[in-house]
Amino acid sequence: MDKKFYVTTPIYYVNDKPHIGHAYTTILADVLARFHRSAGDKTFFLTGTDEHGQKVQRAAEKNNLGCQQHCDETVVRFQELWKTLGMTHDRFIRTTDAFHKEVVQKVLQDLFDRDLIYKAEYTGWYCVGCERFFTEKDLVDGKCPDCGRDVNEIVESNYFFRMSKYQDWLIKYIEEHPDFILPKFRANETLGFLRRPLEDLCISRPKSRLAWGIELPFDKDYVCYVWFDALLNYVSGVGYLQNEEDFKKWWPASCQLIGKDILTTHTVYWPTMLKAMDLPLPKTIFAHGWWLTGKTKMSKSLGNVVNPMDMIQRCGVDAFRYFLLAEMSPGSDASFTEEAFINRYNTDLANDLGNLASRALKMAVRNCNGVIPRPGNMQSEDTALLAMADAALVKMEESLANLALDKGIAAVLDVVRAGNRYFDAAAPWTLAKNGETERLNTVIYTVAEAMRRVAVLLDPVMPGKMKELRDMLGMDPELPATMESLHSKENVLSGRSVIDRGGLFMRIQLEDAAAEKGKKAGKKAEKPVNVVAPEELIDISEFAKVKLKTARVLTAERVEGADKLLKLSIEVGAEKRPLVAGVAQYYTPEEMVGKTIVIVANLKPAVIRGVESCGMLLAAKAGKRLALVTVEGDMPSGASIG
Ligand code: ME8
Ligand code: MG
Repeated sequence: MDKKFYVTTPIYYVNDKPHIGHAYTTILADVLARFHRSAGDKTFFLTGTDEHGQKVQRAAEKNNLGCQQHCDETVVRFQELWKTLGMTHDRFIRTTDAFHKEVVQKVLQDLFDRDLIYKAEYTGWYCVGCERFFTEKDLVDGKCPDCGRDVNEIVESNYFFRMSKYQDWLIKYIEEHPDFILPKFRANETLGFLRRPLEDLCISRPKSRLAWGIELPFDKDYVCYVWFDALLNYVSGVGYLQNEEDFKKWWPASCQLIGKDILTTHTVYWPTMLKAMDLPLPKTIFAHGWWLTGKTKMSKSLGNVVNPMDMIQRCGVDAFRYFLLAEMSPGSDASFTEEAFINRYNTDLANDLGNLASRALKMAVRNCNGVIPRPGNMQSEDTALLAMADAALVKMEESLANLALDKGIAAVLDVVRAGNRYFDAAAPWTLAKNGETERLNTVIYTVAEAMRRVAVLLDPVMPGKMKELRDMLGMDPELPATMESLHSKENVLSGRSVIDRGGLFMRIQLEDAAAEKGKKAGKKAEKPVNVVAPEELIDISEFAKVKLKTARVLTAERVEGADKLLKLSIEVGAEKRPLVAGVAQYYTPEEMVGKTIVIVANLKPAVIRGVESCGMLLAAKAGKRLALVTVEGDMPSGASIG
């Protein structure tokens, strides 16, 4: 890996609030930045907002605000969401920042002085409805390519950047630098575009048509075209023409992330601008696919955007970050549905990762006084599991290099699944029962060590939860999770006190309606889930100790000051007894009277809120619903159940 890593995201338009697409690119950049920091690389992560141009001006007009005020109000939504999502950007740039405007003007003046920008008459076709200019070749059957309406020919004086003169150079550069545009098929797309003659780029807008922009330093009747201004953020954000020392340290960027919607601006305009400025090109421009809703692109105008905050509130920041990265192969499109989200969450996080952690920790608590034991002799299955974790590290490093993070994450989840299988096969609960302490110690240690490695490998993706996991494993959660700590073979776990805090990830119920919909559409059913873990199994003699009986409810009343409790008197055969039950939020006293219920008859009597209770009634619970267990037909009270 590079010793230096500079990553950028597009700067987003402040015409509306951020949606999941914006969140995705920014999370991807954040995860890359975190990985590189954990590998010891000097890292800089830049993101920000694009605040000039027609889109923003229109949004401001719609909101009846001045442009700057509109930007100041909208930018906060991005900044707050990034904070919620745990972004670790080193700088948030706004194109209305004074220093950025200064840099843009300096670049414009320099290119103008060197005759790389010139003034000319521009003939274009204007669509009044779309308020956009098109060139002759953009038109479809002589009509607006966007809305199909008639267009008017308009002649306007404007300033042009001599982009056309770099066409041959750019083609050659792309061909000679296979890492410059990734994935590779996007490089081919750009080369395809470059087969047509490249025109000069109009970089100005007359103020009479659009006033919201950076004024051209050599003509105050014009503002700079928004893309020319915006692209320069990638250099102004790291000190270009302001702090040369910083600039030298970070430029050229290692990785510029974009969505495929803005490929041409980044792989044609941007490199030719840099060439004209005598600056080296970024090492890689990576264009990821789109998040779709079902099969259509998520877009504000279609009204089908997923609001990140809804998902975060439901399942937490870490699970949200995990889903976006695990679900999308960055070159291709991916579809966001609530069902896919919840299924992946339940499978990968609750059922696989959360389950392995809780099983291993419970074993250590029950059998090793809560301390991770020293392993005995390692057997082949033990070393095989840890070798898989080593392989996952290599996979993760590879996937970082080619930005296939979903592959790296999948390799780590393979370790988790293998960990669960290993645990089942090793059956530590049997080892404990048979007093095979040394083997038991080895198994608990091996799973704990596998978990430690998972907690480092997934730390950039789920920084909150993986910190929690390291804390549960008795490690100092404030220490950074470094890749370095995975290369060492030292035993750093034995002797540490674990904390079993219960589920890392609680299962989410799919809304019933959504589940039904899934079934109708013939979707794959959810993977079967272990209802109980093997170590929770009991034998019949243990069950036989529990005496279950039918009972009839004779009277029921509320318990004063305890809104969950009902005080019952019940008949169990010939016997009458009091029983306190936590069902008051589901059943009224009147509903209870006369019911035949099932109780644990041999529970030691207890006093609950000052009321004596002899036994416990049984009820089924699902989410917020509760239903009493009763018996079919006309059974007398006192009947035994088993
Ligand atoms: O284009 N799926 O800003 P923008 C995946 N200001 N990613 C998506 C997405 C989706 N459905 N929708 C948006 C601009 N994105 C310019 C950029 S850069 C110098 C100027 C992400 O607010 C993706 O990264 O329209 C895309 O490229 C970017 O948001 C566009 O954001
Ligand atoms: Mg856009």
